[in-house]
Amino acid sequence: MLDMKRLKLRSMLVAVIAIALSLIAIASYAQANKTLTLATSPDYPPYEFKDTAVSGNEIIGFDIDIAKYITKELGYELKVIGMDFNGLIPALQAKRADLVMAGMTPTAERKKNVDFSDLYYEAQNTIVAKKGSNLTKAEDLTGKKVGVQLGSIQQESVKKMAGVQAAPLNKIPDIIQEIKAQRIAAGVIEDTVAKGYAAANPDLEFNTIPNTEESGSAIAFGKGSTLVPEFNRVLQQMKASGKIKELANKWFSRPIAQAEPTTANQPAVAPKFGLDFGKIVPSLPYILSGIWVTLTFTLLSAFLGFLWGIVLSLFKISSIKPLFWFATAYTSVFRGTPLILQLTLVYFATPQLTGYNISALQAGVITFFLNSGAYISETIRAGIQAVDKGQKEAAESLGVPYKQMMGDIILPQALKNILPALVNESIALLKDSALVSVIGVEDLLRRATIVGAEKYIYFEPLIFVGVIYYLMVLSLTWGANVLERRLQSSS
Ligand code: ARG
Repeated sequence: MLDMKRLKLRSMLVAVIAIALSLIAIASYAQANKTLTLATSPDYPPYEFKDTAVSGNEIIGFDIDIAKYITKELGYELKVIGMDFNGLIPALQAKRADLVMAGMTPTAERKKNVDFSDLYYEAQNTIVAKKGSNLTKAEDLTGKKVGVQLGSIQQESVKKMAGVQAAPLNKIPDIIQEIKAQRIAAGVIEDTVAKGYAAANPDLEFNTIPNTEESGSAIAFGKGSTLVPEFNRVLQQMKASGKIKELANKWFSRPIAQAEPTTANQPAVAPKFGLDFGKIVPSLPYILSGIWVTLTFTLLSAFLGFLWGIVLSLFKISSIKPLFWFATAYTSVFRGTPLILQLTLVYFATPQLTGYNISALQAGVITFFLNSGAYISETIRAGIQAVDKGQKEAAESLGVPYKQMMGDIILPQALKNILPALVNESIALLKDSALVSVIGVEDLLRRATIVGAEKYIYFEPLIFVGVIYYLMVLSLTWGANVLERRLQSSS
């Protein structure tokens, strides 16, 4: 009996070690020393955006060019990562990034949490609205619903306008889309950015309004960062030598990609319906390579989650009480809190707690396998318990050791019975994998939104990847059916 317990323990230990090792393998690439990580929100052409048809994955723009210039001067390597605007300051605080350049304005509120360089560019707010809507001054917005980017100073200034309802949205393209759909009356967006969107959407116009708050862009750093004086020194040089002007000219006067031709004196344009998938064709390779990201992510999480689920289920039927308690509490917590919350926690808390700068993909795989392990363990436990009790008793009376009994007799039968449930779990995982796009993993969904942002369109890329997701789920279901039939006929 004692021997059996020891064996049980040992096999569980082996499984735990196997999981730990695979984790380390995922996490094994170390960060080069002199690399600075720049975090940005690439929804802001021409400051930072993607042109997937031209430069693929890479984030480009005015801010990025400045960052490249400065880091080169100072002898650092530069790594650029993208996320939602409201995640940028937390990223600095979590030491996930060394600096942020996102057309970010140094406000008193932000200065409490991060340090800023000198200003490197000035900007003004504008009201973006449908042509002919006559919303040109702040006063015109009274009683209206107005879109702003979540966490931006525009959100603050609209909040202060009496009688105006602020609608905070994650991305600038979301604001544009909501205006076009007339769910909001207007948006408050910075001039250089508004210009691009207005040029690409002939049904929109923009009007500059006077700044009431702080304005302009500066580079943000973690509190107490020693980089600030170095960066300021190079910024001063760049201003003196005309380099900043040169870069501003390069980016701010560039013709807007895919802008629809506008004819002078065009009357207010009637809303256009109908979809144009032609616009996403140049970016197809970029979108399609997201299939790999999504697949690797799903397979890795499903596989690790499955192993972890087996371990947990054995814990749950174990006679060793602490293991049972652990597994039960674990499942309860992971099933009882939202997946997206677990994901953001793992992503943002890991660097702060462990000092290890976990990548978004690693954080995603870890959260998903920890989470799906909880669900799968329940399924497996039920599967094991559904196997005829007599078999266990027979094996035990024949003196078959626990490990062999589980591995050769009970688990194979259990797995066969729960296969449909496991397939369900994998399908859920495949679709839920789209959640990782919120922490910036470039999976299918994120690629679709990025292409949408850069082409100033919305539905086409989403519909396109929707079809891809659906096809992936169909093939998964089909593969599982084949497998099930095989297993059935082999019994
Ligand atoms: N300048 C504004 C601010 O600091 C908006 C910046 C938005 N930037 C972006 N990359 N989306 O709040």
